[in-house]
Amino acid sequence: MALEFSERIRRIPSYPAAGGYAHDVPEVRLASNESPYPPLPAVREAIKHALSTLNRYPDPSNALLRRRLSERYGVPASRIAIGNGSCDILLAAGEALLEPGAEIVYSWPSFSVYPHLSAASGARAVTVALDGSERHDLEAMLREITVATRLVLVCNPNNPTSTAIPLASIVDFVEQVPAHVCVIVDEAYCEFNLLGDPDASIELLEHHPNLVLLRTFSKVHGLCGLRAGFALCGSEQLPRVLDQVRQPFFCNALAQAAAVEALAHQDAVIDRVTRTIAERISVGERLSALGLATADSQANFCWSHLGPDRDEREVMRGLQERGVLVRGGTALGCEGALRVTYGTPEENARFLEALAEVL
Ligand SMILES: Cc1ncc(COP(=O)(O)O)c(C=O)c1O
Repeated sequence: MALEFSERIRRIPSYPAAGGYAHDVPEVRLASNESPYPPLPAVREAIKHALSTLNRYPDPSNALLRRRLSERYGVPASRIAIGNGSCDILLAAGEALLEPGAEIVYSWPSFSVYPHLSAASGARAVTVALDGSERHDLEAMLREITVATRLVLVCNPNNPTSTAIPLASIVDFVEQVPAHVCVIVDEAYCEFNLLGDPDASIELLEHHPNLVLLRTFSKVHGLCGLRAGFALCGSEQLPRVLDQVRQPFFCNALAQAAAVEALAHQDAVIDRVTRTIAERISVGERLSALGLATADSQANFCWSHLGPDRDEREVMRGLQERGVLVRGGTALGCEGALRVTYGTPEENARFLEALAEVL
């Protein structure tokens, strides 16, 4: 007999990547906005060192990591939350803030995990269309905030469209959001954003206790396999509550050690960002030569529309047959588009060659 699951569980959508790889792992993996660069040698050493104490539980307070983050970003450690990836923080924030009768506001299409927050809590999801340039329409989002709104999510740069909004617009927005509404600006890709200094948003935390900047070690630090994310918060409230709703030891010892070490290598971050942006420019030129309309990417991936005459599934199949895996727009709520992570120069060349053949 089949098990009977709760109504709440039946509402929760599957995460697009949860199915894993249907056959063999593809040769060129450009579907998950991962870093193509492996963890730094010093980070691998730190992980190796931490292996010998795996008989002990990890530090449940993540004290060293929060101290290093505090030094790096100038935010008190008491206002920094750590997560088993930044998704863990998102989901815990949803659990802490949302309930039936409450509302959450976010743009769509955006990060595929956001719909989980309303589904899991029974809160109402209010989605706001992106503007004509596939950017967040913050004015329209403001209009959707009601007395029932508890949480607003702004993905900047936005996944899957890769577009970003300038800091001035965020400042204007946050000033108009009522103080009882938590605003999470998801900055998973902020290091790749050339519209301004990625860390300029941090100053806003001093004036807005309801603001949270969500960051991750998964992207520019290339540690998504380990799971470590963090949130820089405007007050101590959210970090405290997040610890109440999660299991203890949510960030494992290897992830803590690796993240601490990764923070000591900002020069490598700059180098990787520079290389990714060089690829962003050259892949963008090739995509437009192939006739694809591509959004203005400020991230480590691009978002290209195939146009009315091309079938997304056929293009995806053709790429897969050539060993290249990208993400189709349909899985992300927008048919007829491709989201493609920038890989190494060799991987990007393989992708572009395969795409030219398929088209
Ligand atoms: C916008 C956005 N936020 C957060 C994440 C989650 O990252 P992680 O849980 O690996 O930190 C992702 C991952 O793809 C993302 O695209």
